[in-house]
Amino acid sequence: MIGFPYTSADKYGRTMSSSDLSPASLREAFGCFPIGVVAIAAEVDGDKVGLAASTFVPVSLNPPLVSFCIQNSSTTWPKLKDLPALGISVLGEAHNDAARTLAAKAGDRFAGMETESRTSGALFIHGTNVWLETSIAQLVPAGDHTIVVLAISDIVINPDVAPMVFHRSEFRRLEA
Ligand SMILES: Cc1cc2nc3c(=O)[nH]c(=O)nc-3n(C[C@H](O)[C@H](O)[C@H](O)COP(=O)(O)O)c2cc1C
Repeated sequence: MIGFPYTSADKYGRTMSSSDLSPASLREAFGCFPIGVVAIAAEVDGDKVGLAASTFVPVSLNPPLVSFCIQNSSTTWPKLKDLPALGISVLGEAHNDAARTLAAKAGDRFAGMETESRTSGALFIHGTNVWLETSIAQLVPAGDHTIVVLAISDIVINPDVAPMVFHRSEFRRLEA
């Protein structure tokens, strides 16, 4: 029987405690939740700007809304936050390298990726399984992140692309 708060040993013999709320523990705990990864991107003065995000969540059908969380320390977000449109590309199972490239601190975040930009400025990655053209509807402060609520203006679905699942710091594919 598990009490609360509880401690137990994991398969490596490490003690897991429910009262350990360090950033490392929280990252490990949050990482147990399997989730997809998206690219959030736009073209800004001819440059491709974007990042990888695993906090993407569908929010509402009517009106059509999605959200993701951006860390308040992001140096990329200030370049995106005032744009009229942001492209969201849901990464597929072949995008392990792309996910890391899109999160790189230095270098071309779109290296090796075929992209498409819309007249709105929204930027998409080819070979991904869903494209959502969006605009920022609401910003909600939430601790060291901000919840960005986005209104969807257009959708492209490519059902033939199998999804990628981010789980415990690894990019995994679903079993067929
Ligand atoms: C799989 C993965 C998921 C990520 N998810 C998020 C996220 O949801 N929110 C966020 O702010 N950063 C996230 N990041 C970090 C950004 O992709 C990027 O590395 C970071 O914004 C870089 O710092 P900068 O914004 O100062 O350029 C993620 C990185 C990876 C590899």
